Amino acid sequence: MLHPFSVLHTTIISASDENYKEAVQAAVPLLRAGEVVALPTETVYGLAGNAFDEAAVAKIFGAKERPSFDPLIVHVATRADLARVAIIPEEIQNTVDKLLNAFWPGPLTIVLPKHPDIPDLVTSGLDTVAVRQSAGKIFRAIGKELGSPLAAPSANRFGRISPTSAHAVMRELEGRIPLIVDGGACSEGLESTIIHVKAGEKRPTITILRPGPVTKEMLQNFGKVERPKRSSDGEGMTAPGMLPSHYAPRTPLLLLADPSDFRPEPGKKYGLLSYTGEPGKGYVSLHRWSAVEALSPGNGKLPEAALRLFHLLRKLDEAELDFIVAEPVSEVGLGVAIMDRLRRAAATV
Ligand code: TXA
Ligand code: MG
Repeated sequence: MLHPFSVLHTTIISASDENYKEAVQAAVPLLRAGEVVALPTETVYGLAGNAFDEAAVAKIFGAKERPSFDPLIVHVATRADLARVAIIPEEIQNTVDKLLNAFWPGPLTIVLPKHPDIPDLVTSGLDTVAVRQSAGKIFRAIGKELGSPLAAPSANRFGRISPTSAHAVMRELEGRIPLIVDGGACSEGLESTIIHVKAGEKRPTITILRPGPVTKEMLQNFGKVERPKRSSDGEGMTAPGMLPSHYAPRTPLLLLADPSDFRPEPGKKYGLLSYTGEPGKGYVSLHRWSAVEALSPGNGKLPEAALRLFHLLRKLDEAELDFIVAEPVSEVGLGVAIMDRLRRAAATV
């Protein structure tokens, strides 16, 4: 069900070093009063509310127009808080400890059996909860001061491009939320990797439900890593709420597997989301593009491409084009997460 919302005045407050305290002091009372606040994390901006407060969680779903079947990630400020949110089964305790030692705080979300104190609304009625500890300094400072874990999905309207700056959150949620804490641009730019861990006879199995900054290669030391089985149409739901179509610009996006697949319609304006932006390489020389944006200008580096992906998709989406053409990147390391987001941005169903 969608929740009606009255039009609010949305304020942006800077969380720069000089203004850090003020930002914490502005956000915490709102969260304590059951409001929702957009906060920067190292991955993308999140729309945060007290995870134990069902009314606050309902406001998150309302502001995003998010369907209630899509569960939220709960963010803990300290590792000790994990026990307030989830119950770690004995047989995976050791593996979970090792993973958290290696990747927390950071862009790794782990799906665990849920603690009864977490409202069913947070988990869409599932008996598991997705938990992470963000490396974002201001995010954790606010969580600590509040004293409660924060439920926080990406701070965009449902199905749209995730925001990696306070300005992008404003474009998505102005009038729907009271406050955006501006911590500058996110340092990862892509949402966290979501995993599920299962005990195995020899080694545990780690299933990647959503690829992200913590890559398959990085997880391989901790167990046998797999992607969930795909359904017969080849797309598959990897995690509840991970619909094939997501991260979608309003402008139709074409992800071409091969330059020879490009047949432009006459009179239409095409923009290119290139990997390197170098003429003579990739797709740049293929057409007289109305706009070209490069994910990683010059050399083509995947971390830089990941960092800039949502920002440039949003920029091209606002450039009044008829189509955006995205050039694929190689599917290794971070390239897996980038291609996952590009495929979902291109899907129309
Ligand atoms: O980096 C991130 O993870 C960002 C920042 C704000 O922390 N958050 C984020 O949240 O990307 P969101 O809501 O946009 O994506 C969360 C996804 C859901 O769509 C769902 O697929 C998955 O997490 N999820 C949540 N709870 C789950 C559960 N119990 N089991 C499996 N997947 C779950
Ligand atoms: Mg999201």
